[in-house]
Amino acid sequence: MSIVTPKGTSDMLPDVARKWQFLLATAAELFEAYGYEPIDTPIFEATELFVRGIGEATDIVHKEMYTFEDKGGRSLTLRPELTAPVVRAYLQHNLGGGGRLVKLYYAGPMFRFERPQAGRSRQFWQIGIEALGAEAPSVDAEAIVLLVRYFERLGLRDLQVLINSMGCVECRPAYREALAAYLRGRTPELCPDCVRRLEMNPLRVFDCKNPECADVMNEAPEVADFTCGDCAEHFNEVKALLAEAGLAYEVDARLVRGFDYYTKTTFEVRSSQLGAQNALGGGGRYDGLAEMIGGSRTPGVGFALGAERTMLALEAEDVSMPARPPVHVFVATVDETTRRAAFGIVGRLREAQIAAEMDHMGRSLKGQMKQAGKSGVLFAAILGPDEAARGECTVRDMESGEESAVPLADLEEWLAERIKEEIM
Ligand code: HAM
Repeated sequence: MSIVTPKGTSDMLPDVARKWQFLLATAAELFEAYGYEPIDTPIFEATELFVRGIGEATDIVHKEMYTFEDKGGRSLTLRPELTAPVVRAYLQHNLGGGGRLVKLYYAGPMFRFERPQAGRSRQFWQIGIEALGAEAPSVDAEAIVLLVRYFERLGLRDLQVLINSMGCVECRPAYREALAAYLRGRTPELCPDCVRRLEMNPLRVFDCKNPECADVMNEAPEVADFTCGDCAEHFNEVKALLAEAGLAYEVDARLVRGFDYYTKTTFEVRSSQLGAQNALGGGGRYDGLAEMIGGSRTPGVGFALGAERTMLALEAEDVSMPARPPVHVFVATVDETTRRAAFGIVGRLREAQIAAEMDHMGRSLKGQMKQAGKSGVLFAAILGPDEAARGECTVRDMESGEESAVPLADLEEWLAERIKEEIM
């Protein structure tokens, strides 16, 4: 094959796709129990949404977006994340009318032009939430608790919860200034990218993976020394609520995360089972984002988790995942004359919620029985021309080999009863 998946993308083959379905189903059940409702937005959006929402100085906007012009001359971008699109949808459809708290969850593919490595790809899947309309620290704490409980429900145990407070429009400018002043004094040690970052948004220097820049940042002023009373009070309440929920966490003063929209709380859940890409999920509060994209002030908080990394962590922790659901009955035909009748019977069994299969490859009866044995069915219903004419079939119990003549009219009921006995 000369045409294969583009670099940094992969197919979700059945085994992985089934795990993804399980992650989704578990998320939907848990998130709904926390009061979140589903939302879905387009795969591409106006480029401006991300430039304004995520920030021009971020790596995502500066280097990683899949941006293209469509045939109508519009600049569009494949979504690199879903927070800005969900806030866009919230504003566009006035979902917060009446001043209520709107809690939304989503799942789907995101696109970032990053250097692929284990746990990092160019098309990757996220599951996330956004809670819009409330300032209360309890919404931040609820989001953190939900993210951790989700991973725990999947069966993960090795989880580190890191939290930080990024300050707000009141106190961030002073921190930004102090950080910029510090960095200007150490410019010769910074990489060219960080020199650019320093002038656009000095907080983005925290995102640099370059070890020399990281050394410089280790001695940088910390945001905690600049936070205003309101931010400090908010953060203290988040911490108290996490303690109330019995959730262990660490405060990491360097957790600024790679988006310009964060204010106040940021958080990340990591697994030490993974390599360099150890963040399973992360998020934070973004009280200024709605205004950044042209809407009225709307406080918000949310998170997103990466499906690939979650699956890698589940594998590393040896958590068993649901296997393919069993097929219970194989309908075999003695010769060609009963194929149509078999097709009808398989359909009737499936309608009666009995997982059934038949041969589509023109196999002989012997071949069909071999296939039935391999697929691990409990029963084979064998349809010969004489039996079919009498309105019967032979049902073989695959384990004991015992055979019974069963009227076709009673087949669903007969099998349903026996299957129940066998799997109870
Ligand atoms: P993020 O930290 O960029 O946050 O992404 C969240 C998660 O997506 C990461 O923790 C990681 O598991 C996964 N992820 C990110 N990039 C990749 C990649 N290239 N390959 C594989 N997995 C990846 C956000 O996207 C924010 N929108 C989260 C948020 C929601 N903040 C507030 N609300």
